[in-house]
Amino acid sequence: MTTRKILVTSALPYANGSIHLGHLVEYIQTDIWVRFQKMQGNEAHYVCADDTHGTPIMLRAEKEGITSEQLIARVWQEHYDDFSEFHVDFDHYGSTNSNETRVSAETIYRTLRDKNLIEVRSIEQYYDPVKNMFLPDRFIKGECPKCGAKDQYGDNCEVCGAAYAPTELIAPYSAVSGAKPELRNSDHYFFKLSADSCQQFLRNWTRSGTLQTEAANKMQEWLGAEGENKLSDWDISRDAPYFGFEIPDAPGKYFYVWLDAPVGYMGSFKQLCNKTGLNFDEYWLPQSQPESVMDARRQGSGDADIPLGRQGAADAADNADAPSVTATELYHFIGKDILYFHALFWPAMLEHAGYRTPTKLFAHGFLTVNGEKMSKSRGTFITARSYIDHIKNTEYLRYYYASKLNGTMEDLDLSLDDFVTKVNSDLIGKYINIASRCAGFIAKRFEGKLGNTDTAACAEFQEAFTGGEIARCYENRDFSRALREIMRLADVANQYIAEKKPWELAKQEGKDAELLEVCSTALTLFRDLTRYLKPVLPKLAAQVETFLNIPPMTWNEKWVALSSGHVINTYQHLATRLDPKLVEAMVAANQESLPASPASGQGVAAQSEQRHAVHQQHTASIEVAQAEKDFEPFISIEDFAKVDLRVAKIVNAEQVEGAAKLLKLTLDIGEGNSRTVFAGIKSAYDPENLKGRLTVMVANLAPRKMKFGLSEGMVLAASGEASGLFILSPDDGATPGMRIK
Ligand code: 2FM
Ligand code: ZN
Repeated sequence: MTTRKILVTSALPYANGSIHLGHLVEYIQTDIWVRFQKMQGNEAHYVCADDTHGTPIMLRAEKEGITSEQLIARVWQEHYDDFSEFHVDFDHYGSTNSNETRVSAETIYRTLRDKNLIEVRSIEQYYDPVKNMFLPDRFIKGECPKCGAKDQYGDNCEVCGAAYAPTELIAPYSAVSGAKPELRNSDHYFFKLSADSCQQFLRNWTRSGTLQTEAANKMQEWLGAEGENKLSDWDISRDAPYFGFEIPDAPGKYFYVWLDAPVGYMGSFKQLCNKTGLNFDEYWLPQSQPESVMDARRQGSGDADIPLGRQGAADAADNADAPSVTATELYHFIGKDILYFHALFWPAMLEHAGYRTPTKLFAHGFLTVNGEKMSKSRGTFITARSYIDHIKNTEYLRYYYASKLNGTMEDLDLSLDDFVTKVNSDLIGKYINIASRCAGFIAKRFEGKLGNTDTAACAEFQEAFTGGEIARCYENRDFSRALREIMRLADVANQYIAEKKPWELAKQEGKDAELLEVCSTALTLFRDLTRYLKPVLPKLAAQVETFLNIPPMTWNEKWVALSSGHVINTYQHLATRLDPKLVEAMVAANQESLPASPASGQGVAAQSEQRHAVHQQHTASIEVAQAEKDFEPFISIEDFAKVDLRVAKIVNAEQVEGAAKLLKLTLDIGEGNSRTVFAGIKSAYDPENLKGRLTVMVANLAPRKMKFGLSEGMVLAASGEASGLFILSPDDGATPGMRIK
């Protein structure tokens, strides 16, 4: 069998938010596939990285009072730790903010420019005169020009679904400062996707079998019919201030985050090559030149500043008829919402810069929880960390996702009841129970030593196991079918145990030999099931290998039963039933810690500045009173940055029946958000005198349920030794929602 050489990537998560269960669908899917490839003996390399650039990251760092570099370093560690807990085993996890990515991005850009595929044009765009920056579409809000809904983003309306240009918004305002934006001109750099060479290439490429059928059809829609040339040029630059890579020949202009994000696949792989000695070019140059020719050309180029073999790439691209020598494969696992970038922009960039294009794109659907979009108010917007804290066993989720993944772009539903049922009935009930019912007898009665196996039972098991069917399912990413097959085998094994009843044999005189045979056979079958489950349950499989005292299992080993006389280790609990209360507690915790906000999901418009970015904003939550605490002598700027202080307008103030100290305030904190706060200021203020006043509130305290209702915040007031209570007021000019820092 020939060893395939495979480079695999998952989409790079943004460095401005936590990994959540929606993200994990993709990383778990990819990880299972890569582990399967490795078990097959293929040379597979799995790389990923944090996607670190762009306006939201820059603004978030600013909000936290740290540098963008500090923010992305912290988030990188969080992401890396989360992935490790879920056993997502990258061969390298990098960052797009790396020298390797920068050099590749610049190299690609220069080649496109030299091929006349970059054009500079002046465009008119909204500018925030307070923040002194151009505003990405998602940072401009206003009234929807179609339905009039307030506070809609600059690219599409979440109420009526209309798409429009930010300049069409009625009464636009900057979501960063609240200021009225001005239209200003600026030079932008465009990748000429409308060029005939790009459109023709993409028309062929998207039809060449690289895409799932549904994705290929979508692309044809976007590309239009032959000669229709529907693609517009792609704006790849952004103006300073921007956290990213400056464009080589354009001071003050930066590569748009989506230009360097996929280049991060290359950068991360380059770092892996630096670590391991792998050959970068073998995976990224077109597969048409003998390596020796490429080497000779690279050496001859004398271009020391082209470390990634681009020169060889360009040359090779010009000589596409040469025989193929190495056939490395490149696969990108992605969500269906970023197909546009991966099936159009990315291959066009690669092709025209002289690199190879992906072998296949594997797009998956979105995650729904209990049949609905993940939602903070329902407690189903669950972070990886929250899952770890509550459920602990991350392989349960791997198992569940695998049981639902089928290689299509359909959405995947995490039904929390079904999750518990499936883990308990299949994983524990059918699989783990085989070992837990038989292992004890081997330890107690036979000093851990196995006996002969039941040849007929093993043969029957092998017959039930339909050859390479499970392997085919894994290869095609039809994990749900693979698991169904495996559970069918588990049924055969359980049937055997049920017929033989080892627990009864153990009680009968003179049945030791039979008991030993039944248990040895069951453990052999258990080993085989573990082998097939290993891509999904790597930690459990390693524990089983230790327990059975066998070397790490691979896929294509010649089948032999565990041999007579083989000594196994004492059985330790491999996994326990999943208590539904843990799941309930997880949902409750997410409901409490994440105050109600617009439902947050993954399906934000494909071309938005950064998916999720806006949805990950902290939403306001405020508390009426805070326990008195001893003050620390100093707090860090990071500590201070955690407190979201906002200017709030008291739109209503009223007495609370039965409350001695409280007034009920309705606060406007901008962007159409209003909060109810029960404030202990009754002794000092007549509600009528408060109406219309501006004050200051803490906008990110968790909401608190009080006898009188939910209090969503705290207004700040001064008090001292002397009597009196004084709420704060901002200076003239402040408007509701402004951040205090
Ligand atoms: O949509 C996202 O979450 C992007 N950060 C994905 C980037 S994938 C690749 F292009 F880097
Ligand atoms: Zn609308």
